[in-house]
Amino acid sequence: MKRSMIAGLTALVILGMIFLCVACAGQRQQDRAGAAAPAVTGPPTAVTTGPAAAGQPAAAGEGASDLYRDEPRPLKPVECGRCHRSEYERLRAGDSRHRFDCLKCHRQLHAYRPPAANYAAVMPKCGRCHQQQPHGPEFAACRRCHDPHAPKNIPFAVIAGKSRGQGGREVTACERCHRQEAAEMAAKPCKHNEEVGCTGCHADRHGVKPSCLDCHEPHVAGQQYRDCLVCHRPHSAGDILPYPENTGNEVCGSCHQEIAAHLRQNHTRHSELTCAACHRRHGQVPDCRQCHGQQPHDPAMLRKFPDCLQCHLDPHNLPEK
Ligand code: HEC
Ligand code: HEC
Ligand code: HEC
Ligand code: HEC
Ligand code: HEC
Ligand code: HEC
Ligand code: HEC
Ligand code: HEC
Ligand code: HEC
Ligand code: HEC
Ligand code: HEC
Ligand code: HEC
Repeated sequence: MKRSMIAGLTALVILGMIFLCVACAGQRQQDRAGAAAPAVTGPPTAVTTGPAAAGQPAAAGEGASDLYRDEPRPLKPVECGRCHRSEYERLRAGDSRHRFDCLKCHRQLHAYRPPAANYAAVMPKCGRCHQQQPHGPEFAACRRCHDPHAPKNIPFAVIAGKSRGQGGREVTACERCHRQEAAEMAAKPCKHNEEVGCTGCHADRHGVKPSCLDCHEPHVAGQQYRDCLVCHRPHSAGDILPYPENTGNEVCGSCHQEIAAHLRQNHTRHSELTCAACHRRHGQVPDCRQCHGQQPHDPAMLRKFPDCLQCHLDPHNLPEK
């Protein structure tokens, strides 16, 4: 390894010296012949042009040859960017996974000829790398939405645009890609369907998620956005989910105020229970016997008075002892 390097260096030095000698000789010959006669007989490296020819012969000969010594290397993106600032900057700005070599996409370069109308033909094809159509055949025109130099920068108006769907119904492009959310909204409609819609909540930019509190007051002070999702699914908000047993009575009490006040003021064992412990789902009304068994009293008495509330009046406001 080391030895071969030394050998290589030595060879270079020798070559350099030969070069210099030849150049000197050539130059001298030229000088002798006078400026009028170009160095036809000298080696090509000795040909010089411009003011250097008069001044420093050796140095000038070296500079000119240097210009053509290297193999051309493919341009790096930043070099393309010198002329194509806009494409370069768009790629640079995002966190796109397209930030690889321009030439990976642009295999044919500077080949567009307007008279041949070959623009589409020379431009890279998405399908070369993205063999599948990721959103299905309905969305085959990739560049309607994706700029290859900023693929995640999607114009909102295009994806929010409406078209006729099944049965002539107007649907947004959102619904065609996000079938699950759209199906849930259709199956469990609430005022969000007509009065808000996908683009009412997910507005302005693709992928933004709203907070319920952007548009609604909480039921009770201190409730956070994540609390809402305990009881409400965003795409079927009118259907109340089963809530946990330790849900605070003040939440239910924000609407059922009188009941909550009774239960709070009542001094019986029922007041130790949460609303949610007895009402396991919203709107469900339990039977006393679910918890107290079929025969909490003498069967004869219960045959005569089958309605528990005839004597106990109100589960939220039991008569106190
Ligand atoms: C030379 C190959 C190549 C070509 C041509 C190409 N892509 Fe990509 N693209 C990739 C690779 C690699 C990724 C990152 C890995 C992946 O997601 O498959 C990618 C990712 C993407 C992404 C995800 C966004 C991101 O930044 O992560 C989108 C959108 C995309 N490409 C759209 C397109 C569109 C539209 C075209 C045509 C205009 C296209 N691509 C042409 C290779 C290519
Ligand atoms: C993922 C593939 C991909 C990469 C990477 C990519 N391009 Fe492109 N580029 C394309 C496609 C596809 C088109 C055609 C766009 C169209 O038809 O609107 C294009 C078009 C262009 C155009 C013509 C724009 C015009 O208005 O006619 C230029 C210039 C260009 N690219 C430069 C670059 C430069 C410079 C880089 C690297 C910094 C680069 N591209 C990287 C895919 C790519
Ligand atoms: C010295 C300036 C310069 C450099 C460097 C340069 N281009 Fe260009 N490029 C041009 C000019 C000028 C045009 C024609 C006018 C136009 O479309 O902007 C052009 C056109 C293009 C086009 C569209 C038309 C066609 O014929 O393909 C693409 C794509 C392109 N260049 C890509 C690249 C890429 C990729 C690189 C780097 C590998 C690059 N260019 C480097 C000057 C340059
Ligand atoms: C109607 C607009 C539209 C069309 C047409 C479209 N896309 Fe997309 N594409 C999107 C949206 C929106 C996303 C989601 C971007 C995000 O993650 O924020 C996306 C995401 C992608 C992704 C990233 C997928 C992922 O899971 O991260 C790829 C790759 C992609 N598109 C490629 C393509 C290709 C290839 C075509 C053409 C065959 C195409 N797209 C056509 C709108 C479109
Ligand atoms: C061409 C298909 C396509 C269209 C049209 C489309 N999206 Fe998407 N969307 C995607 C893809 C792909 C993703 C990323 C992968 C995923 O989460 O499914 C995404 C992600 C999302 C996300 C979740 C972002 C996150 O951070 O979790 C939301 C919200 C969203 N889209 C809403 C919408 C809305 C609203 C519309 C209509 C204005 C819409 N999308 C139109 C394909 C699309
Ligand atoms: C009432 C407001 C509202 C409406 C209307 C709405 N969304 Fe959403 N959407 C949300 C909220 C809030 C979230 C975030 C849920 C979360 O954080 O888990 C969300 C999440 C999403 C997600 C991401 C799913 C995920 O698992 O993260 C997609 C995709 C989406 N919505 C699409 C749609 C589409 C399509 C429509 C129309 C059919 C729509 N949304 C209508 C409020 C809404
Ligand atoms: C962009 C504004 C907006 C956002 C965000 C929003 N809503 Fe709504 N919501 C409305 C409007 C408008 C109505 C109909 C008028 C009304 O009842 O206030 C409504 C109605 C409702 C209704 C009554 C439904 C019916 O059919 O009676 C519930 C429940 C609801 N929203 C819950 C939520 C929840 C939970 C969230 C968060 C996941 C949420 N909303 C996010 C605007 C919004
Ligand atoms: C413990 C369960 C629970 C939680 C947590 C909850 N809600 Fe509700 N919400 C309900 C019930 C029950 C209704 C009444 C449904 C009915 O009318 O049938 C309701 C109704 C609504 C309505 C309809 C309009 C109204 O006031 O009658 C809106 C809007 C609403 N909730 C928003 C929210 C928001 C915003 C949050 C989060 C801050 C939230 N909810 C948290 C249970 C809950
Ligand atoms: C936003 C207001 C609101 C909140 C919060 C609320 N409810 Fe309701 N509740 C209603 C409305 C309105 C009705 C009547 C319409 C219906 O059945 O949906 C109702 C009905 C009921 C019923 C059935 C009444 C009957 O006669 O059949 C029960 C039981 C009930 N709620 C218990 C609760 C409990 C327990 C909570 C707390 C976990 C709660 N509610 C939270 C508004 C609310
Ligand atoms: C979800 C279960 C549940 C339901 C439904 C229920 N109770 Fe109770 N009740 C209890 C529990 C737990 C206690 C306290 C322990 C015990 O005495 O068994 C209790 C206690 C009582 C007491 C004694 C109160 C005290 O402070 O000594 C009476 C009386 C009573 N219940 C009547 C009723 C009546 C009447 C109904 C129907 C309208 C009813 N309960 C429905 C769970 C329930
Ligand atoms: C011990 C169990 C228990 C507890 C705790 C309880 N409930 Fe009830 N609730 C019942 C029973 C049993 C009924 C049915 C009474 C009947 O048959 O008339 C009922 C009926 C209701 C009704 C419908 C009938 C009416 O009176 O309007 C509503 C609404 C209601 N409860 C809300 C609440 C709320 C809100 C709380 C908490 C503040 C709560 N309940 C706590 C057992 C309970
Ligand atoms: C004829 C009136 C009457 C009827 C009907 C009645 N009860 Fe009672 N219940 C009473 C009296 C009186 C007590 C004793 C009150 C006390 O100890 O303060 C009592 C006590 C109870 C207790 C508390 C027992 C304890 O050990 O503390 C429960 C639980 C109870 N009743 C449940 C029920 C249920 C459930 C029904 C319906 C199936 C019902 N009762 C029907 C009058 C009645």
